[in-house]
Amino acid sequence: MSVRLGDTAPNFTADTTQGNINFHEWIGNSWVFFFSHPADFTPVCTTEMGRTSQLAEEFASRNVKPIGLSTDSVDEHNKWISDVNDTQNTELKFPIIADKSLEVSQLYDMIHPNEDSTHAVRSVFIIDPDKKVRLTLTYPMNVGRNFDEILRVIDALQLADAKTVATPADWTPGGEVIIPLSVSDEDAARKYPNGFETIRPYLRTTKL
Ligand code: BEZ
Repeated sequence: MSVRLGDTAPNFTADTTQGNINFHEWIGNSWVFFFSHPADFTPVCTTEMGRTSQLAEEFASRNVKPIGLSTDSVDEHNKWISDVNDTQNTELKFPIIADKSLEVSQLYDMIHPNEDSTHAVRSVFIIDPDKKVRLTLTYPMNVGRNFDEILRVIDALQLADAKTVATPADWTPGGEVIIPLSVSDEDAARKYPNGFETIRPYLRTTKL
């Protein structure tokens, strides 16, 4: 089953390094960075786990809970976490799902058989507190994810929700934003205190 933008993130129960969880209950009122990786004790995955852990405060300040997944067991995850902590100079505190049965991987379409028939690819799902899927990304086995981009897109989504704006190519926090087409010029004049520039009737920008 594929999971698409705007879908309710499929619920599941699973064993993790922090006990059995019901995913929706675990999400609670947080945003979620849900990411899969092919296997424990592999080099690229080790750096990704380390980076996620090092960014714990960045995730927490955005009300985002990270959760990992691979098709290895809780025992293997726990042994590997010691290695991640040693080699990446961190203390990993988020849960990792043990999906030996591939149940969750299949639910989220993380197994891409032409890439690998038993291991999950590097999927990312950003899920909001309403349990809606807001971003999906899929990386291949041999390319580590860019965590600046993960944080950037979370910032963009949260800003879009809070201020009714869209973000242009290569936007970073503090940069100019776009006024959505659904907002009339009249409403824009009221809504955006710094005014706005009309480059084309369909392309209006403002500073927040
Ligand atoms: C890695 O994390 O380095 C990796 C995992 C599976 C296949 C290839 C590389």
